[in-house]
Amino acid sequence: MSNPKRRARDREALPLTRIRGIARLWDGRRVHHDVSLLLQGSRIVEIGADDDTDGGDDAVETVEADGLIAMPGLVDCHTHTTFAGTRVGDFVRRVSLTGATDTYTSILEVGGGIHTTVHATRMATVDELTVLTTARLDDMLARGVTTVEIKSGYGLDLKTERRMLEAARASAGPVEVLTTFLAHVFPRGRDQGADRAAYFQELLTVNLPSLAPLVTAVDVYCDTGAFSLAETDAILTRAKALGLDIHVHAEQVAHTGAAALAARHGALSADHLERIDANGIAAMAAAGTVAVLLPGAMLYLRDTPPPVAALRTAGVPMAVATDFNPGSSPVTNLWTAATLACLTMGLTAEEALTGITRNAALALGRRDLGWLGPGSAADIALFFPPPGEPPNVEVLLQYLGGRPAEQVWKGGVRVI
Ligand code: NIG
Ligand code: FE
Repeated sequence: MSNPKRRARDREALPLTRIRGIARLWDGRRVHHDVSLLLQGSRIVEIGADDDTDGGDDAVETVEADGLIAMPGLVDCHTHTTFAGTRVGDFVRRVSLTGATDTYTSILEVGGGIHTTVHATRMATVDELTVLTTARLDDMLARGVTTVEIKSGYGLDLKTERRMLEAARASAGPVEVLTTFLAHVFPRGRDQGADRAAYFQELLTVNLPSLAPLVTAVDVYCDTGAFSLAETDAILTRAKALGLDIHVHAEQVAHTGAAALAARHGALSADHLERIDANGIAAMAAAGTVAVLLPGAMLYLRDTPPPVAALRTAGVPMAVATDFNPGSSPVTNLWTAATLACLTMGLTAEEALTGITRNAALALGRRDLGWLGPGSAADIALFFPPPGEPPNVEVLLQYLGGRPAEQVWKGGVRVI
């Protein structure tokens, strides 16, 4: 299989498919009008003019996409999709007339928030978690999402973290799943003094190496109420020694210096960033670390936006993700996140489109995803515009939540 000539020959033998009649196609950089896409196996061969004929070649199967808008299959690069239980109680309290002062951190401190989800997730079997995750991924696929990153972090003990990661992996189907081990918070009652030190050692020397075979990356929630900067440094050092990619939940509640630390470690991404400073921005720009913006969490926590203008000026690549989780971002729709990134954070339409495709793939270290052209993955999402609207790509952003996908292709296979 590793012989390149043999690989080229195998590819030649693969059947060709042409998707034709595409009104607009966004290739990850720009819009094409009236084109067709030629697929071979799991790859795109070319973007052609729509009048390309295949000379009656029966070897080319033709699929009609009349009037549709084509996008690279969307990539949700930051989610907590595998969990059990509900946080509806926290939500109702936070929007009630008396609870408006409850903050994310104050709910967490009294054992609510993340701990509520940890409790429910510990009670769930792998099968139960798989059923829940699969149903949530189906929702995402229906809007054209073909790759989803899923983090652990609601187990906090080895056996539940393992169950979460096994369930996330078992839920992959039409949607590709990339799993990340998340050092999220300390278990309740183990966050002080000697207990904290003991748990931290267990995490570094037992949990992390045992779970490494189940993940491609490690993420740390470095913040008030979670891991300190020094603890984060140690976890990232260990993760890299295990050959894993790294991400950091950085500068969300407090300014900690986590973004600069992430960049120094060569992290693929630093995420949230509401409280990043100039130093963090410069470090991310120098390292090419992607800024993953999470407008769902910003909205639900009634937070202020990250400094998007400064990130843009510094040339930091920006991605947008749902941060789907039951507490701070109960949002499965990546189009909604993209539109909110425009309206609440100041991204342009083009930046938002790049943010849910090419830069999201970059945040996962996947250069084959998030764009369409010769050699890219044949991951394609096709949509009709809303009734009465022109087939502009941007109209999918303008209407909050986008549109249900009409066709979805993953790795050259039609899955919707
Ligand atoms: O990315 N900030 C920390 N972790 C998650 C929230 C998880 C939860 O509230 O359950 C986040 O927002
Ligand atoms: Fe998150």
